Amino acid sequence: MKFFVDTAEIDEIKDMADSGLLDGVTTNPSLIAKSGRNFKDVILEICDIVDGPVSAEVASTDYETMRKEGLEIAKWAENIAVKVPLTEAGLKVCKELSDQGTMVNVTLCFSASQAILAAKAGATFISPFVGRLDDISQDGLGLISDICRIYDNYPDFHTEVLVASIRNPLHIVEAAKMGAHVMTAPPKVIKQLYKHPLTESGLAAFVDDWAKTGQSIL
Ligand code: E4P
Repeated sequence: MKFFVDTAEIDEIKDMADSGLLDGVTTNPSLIAKSGRNFKDVILEICDIVDGPVSAEVASTDYETMRKEGLEIAKWAENIAVKVPLTEAGLKVCKELSDQGTMVNVTLCFSASQAILAAKAGATFISPFVGRLDDISQDGLGLISDICRIYDNYPDFHTEVLVASIRNPLHIVEAAKMGAHVMTAPPKVIKQLYKHPLTESGLAAFVDDWAKTGQSIL
């Protein structure tokens, strides 16, 4: 499973990249607004830090403007994945950009039928939002399971399932069991993956016992 981090904060991205576990970055207009920085400046900086795909989202909703924005964003760096919303216009732009060899991340996916359309439009990634579905008492992970099963039935679908809107480690573990290709999560949730109380108590005991030996390795 590939690990993307869902943030536009440079310090957080550098910290994740230092872990050696980071395969890419996703941003969205809300995360850019939260950063308070210029969109292009932030994206270029992120593309310098991370070799893998960096998702940068179009801002318009009409086809013509979205197409122009997508073509513009695609020029910014080799590892850009243009992010488009799952709308009729968005998928039309997706098809065009994919056909010209640009990576496309289709975002705001909330149903299996939408995921089928994105695969047919040649999306590099489909981003189903598990947390936002859970928030309205629908089964976010059930959607991941459905999409993985459907995509497995069609070898000519090359779209990767990018599990998004992740709220907790269980979302990641369950999606991994289903074979989802990629997950994107906020740094806080990725940090939670390391944690187990038995690791902490076990380590504390080892440190105490080692001190009793009076030895030193270095
Ligand atoms: C993914 O690409 C989105 O930016 C993100 O996962 C949305 O998450 P949220 O529902 O926590 O805003």
